[in-house]
Amino acid sequence: MAKVEESQKHKIKTKEEEITTIKAATEILNRLNRAFKIARIYEPNNLLFQKQIEVLLGFIIKALEEDKEASFMLRLSTLFFNGVKIRFGFANYYLFKFISNEFRKREIGVLSFQQGFDKEELTKFIILLAKKGEDSKSSIEDFMSELKQNSINHITLEKIPPFEKLKNKKKDATKIFFLSITHLKESFNKQKEQQKIPLLTTKRLMQSLYNHIVDNESFLYGLTNIKNFDEYTLNHSVNVCILSLSLGKRLGLDRNELVDLGLSAFFHDFGKLDIPKEILVKPGKLDKEERKIIEKHPHYGAEKLIQLRETSYLPMRAINVAMEHHSREDHAGYPKYEKKKSINLFSKIVKVTDVFDAITTKRPYRKKDFTKEEALSMMIEKSGIEFDPIILKVFVSMMGTYPIGTLVLLSTGEIGIVFEANPEPAFVFRPKVKIIADNNGKKKDGEVVGLTEVDPQTNKYTRTITKSLDPYKYNIKTSDYFIIEAE
Ligand SMILES: [Fe+2]
Ligand SMILES: [Fe+2]
Repeated sequence: MAKVEESQKHKIKTKEEEITTIKAATEILNRLNRAFKIARIYEPNNLLFQKQIEVLLGFIIKALEEDKEASFMLRLSTLFFNGVKIRFGFANYYLFKFISNEFRKREIGVLSFQQGFDKEELTKFIILLAKKGEDSKSSIEDFMSELKQNSINHITLEKIPPFEKLKNKKKDATKIFFLSITHLKESFNKQKEQQKIPLLTTKRLMQSLYNHIVDNESFLYGLTNIKNFDEYTLNHSVNVCILSLSLGKRLGLDRNELVDLGLSAFFHDFGKLDIPKEILVKPGKLDKEERKIIEKHPHYGAEKLIQLRETSYLPMRAINVAMEHHSREDHAGYPKYEKKKSINLFSKIVKVTDVFDAITTKRPYRKKDFTKEEALSMMIEKSGIEFDPIILKVFVSMMGTYPIGTLVLLSTGEIGIVFEANPEPAFVFRPKVKIIADNNGKKKDGEVVGLTEVDPQTNKYTRTITKSLDPYKYNIKTSDYFIIEAE
């Protein structure tokens, strides 16, 4: 666990750290802009140009040392640096204009400087960026191949995903959510028919999900309330993937690690392909023989992923996750190992999100399904026994007291759905809620209200959560409200 604690120290950002990141980003942009302008006038060996490159290099290296990454991401009209939203004032707005123009012209969504790049690579990169003919649009593919030709290997680009051109971010997130389910279904079918699975598409989907996590985490959580949209395993795998990305981000993993974590979570139940459907959807309790069969899915999954990895990019840790996601801290899980085995960090993360999504989903064989609150408190009881205590703690705080999608009864008698957590720790009990029924229980498409709203006459809170309700009992599909919101 040392790794998590150590990375937490570096990566979970306090307000001050965010300010430092914004400052670093602004300095880099400022120097990038100057070097770019000079490169358009002078030759590369010009002293002024060389000087600017050196200063720029220094700022980027400093950011890499402090944050382990130096990566700009443009999303619609917002620029992020290392996951932090950069705000531009009147005085430096030209910097935003500069970078967003250069990005858009070449369809760049992400620009990352990787550890190990040097002055020579940076010089070549700036020259290419400032090259004549900059007014005409050139595709990112051209630009990427130019980088390759010039042996620029530590400055990487990612294309703006086509789905990102949509205006509505929520619509966008919803589309990627469903696209992921469809993609997994196709991957399962391809595997059955022994055809090649397009893992590059899977990776792009993970990058896109990551971008939405940075951008609009609450909404994406909301979508994980969509249960049993298609076959359970498909929908469940995408939910586990989203929750793992969020959890991993809070544990301090960087962008590349998160994409790997997403991929690993996405395929965690890949082995279920080999389990007969009658067992997977059996309404009653499984007998001993059937249990034995189902407990083989980690092995099956790992075997399949090992094969997949031979021909395409797949992180090694995806195989660990497939194999270990039913392992427990007390080693009572399955598969059984002869010797006590240390469990991979990714597997521990997926273990937590997997159980949470599974027990909050209605399943034919389970007598009782848990509300989100019940699920969290049951999981806390098993901290250190089934789950890694630190990872679970971060997960519980991430889900908040009232996780997004929870159905709640308000002091006014109205019923609502938690839509957005309150980021202020003092107000965790006062999230934003969408009203879906009036105080007579009559359904309505109400507004989203903040529970910190105070009635000016009484000086008391207008609404307070009284208790959470079981959506199945009320026959309410909370996810529908998130989908409608996106339309
Ligand atoms: Fe599983
Ligand atoms: Fe699972």
